[in-house]
Amino acid sequence: MYQTQFLKEQLKSISNHILQPGDFHDKLVPAITAYTKLLFDIGKIDSEESIERRHIKLPFGDAIGTFWAANCVKEVLRTQRFIRGLYLAIQDKLAQKSGPIHILYAGTGPFATLALPIMVHFSPEEVQFTLLEINETSHNKLLDVIDAFDLHKYVRQIEITDATTYVLPNTEVDIVLSETLNRALITEPQVFIMLNLASQLGDGVIYLPEEITVNLSEKKRNETEPRIIETLINFNLDKMKEIIRHAERNQWVFEEIKVNIGNVEPADLYYTTEIKIYRDNFLGYEASSLNLLERVKLDEKDAKDLIFKYYATGKPGFSAHSENVLIT
Ligand SMILES: C[S@@+](CC[C@H](N)C(=O)[O-])C[C@H]1O[C@@H](n2cnc3c(N)ncnc32)[C@H](O)[C@@H]1O
Repeated sequence: MYQTQFLKEQLKSISNHILQPGDFHDKLVPAITAYTKLLFDIGKIDSEESIERRHIKLPFGDAIGTFWAANCVKEVLRTQRFIRGLYLAIQDKLAQKSGPIHILYAGTGPFATLALPIMVHFSPEEVQFTLLEINETSHNKLLDVIDAFDLHKYVRQIEITDATTYVLPNTEVDIVLSETLNRALITEPQVFIMLNLASQLGDGVIYLPEEITVNLSEKKRNETEPRIIETLINFNLDKMKEIIRHAERNQWVFEEIKVNIGNVEPADLYYTTEIKIYRDNFLGYEASSLNLLERVKLDEKDAKDLIFKYYATGKPGFSAHSENVLIT
């Protein structure tokens, strides 16, 4: 009991520092470092264990291995902005209704990294979590983590499941949270997890992140920042509603975007990613690995009129081809 109380106090102090306002402050990196050590010790993360490094291939994108999911905590600004965004969203919901606010967290990894600092700030009468994870090793470690901090009272349900096809047992959900993301929405299933869950829920739900924008951008070698040419997707609530409206039996369809790149060299074309988690919690260019450049791959070297489309099958991401090339 003494040990649990001690761990909780450490978590509370880390959480206080992470929740502090401001983009960057001198308590932030020490808090994330301490949080990482705490979680890695409790979760007994073993970088040499091949099962912990293995990704799970799924129809709508990879679920990354336990070791990699554990490492996400180290991304200082990502972890800060997501936790703070969730905290603010809960406060907003609590201002509208009495608790508990039910948060559906899809893709927890081995630690439910984005949820633990929130649990120590609210009572179980204020917040309740449903925790979904497809990776059994991560799921088992998460059970150990919840035990170690004795946070069972905050967990309504915890399941090993594929969140892209999960059928909700009840629709009383206030907030959906997922960070199953990669730059330019490639390889991981964020879009499909959100669409699956949103297609089962009514109005008034807050989805975190609120908006993920992927732009077609130009960056010349000697330039420090990319220049946006065209927005390819603004993945937010309105966009989800539109995709869900046009879908037949969860066959999600994405529109084609035509772009004339004019004098831009195809070799200077990149996808750039901006993420609004909630209110003023934002991740822009190079703020995290999710905001790094992703090169546009084109078969034709002198293409001018390009067509972009987001696709789901196999490996998610944008496809790009010249308008003159016939796609079969
Ligand atoms: C990028 S990690 C993030 C971990 C943690 N939420 C964090 O923010 O630090 C994504 C996690 O989502 C899980 N995941 C990916 N696809 C999933 C799916 N279709 N259903 C359930 N979990 C999934 C992965 O196994 C991985 O643990």
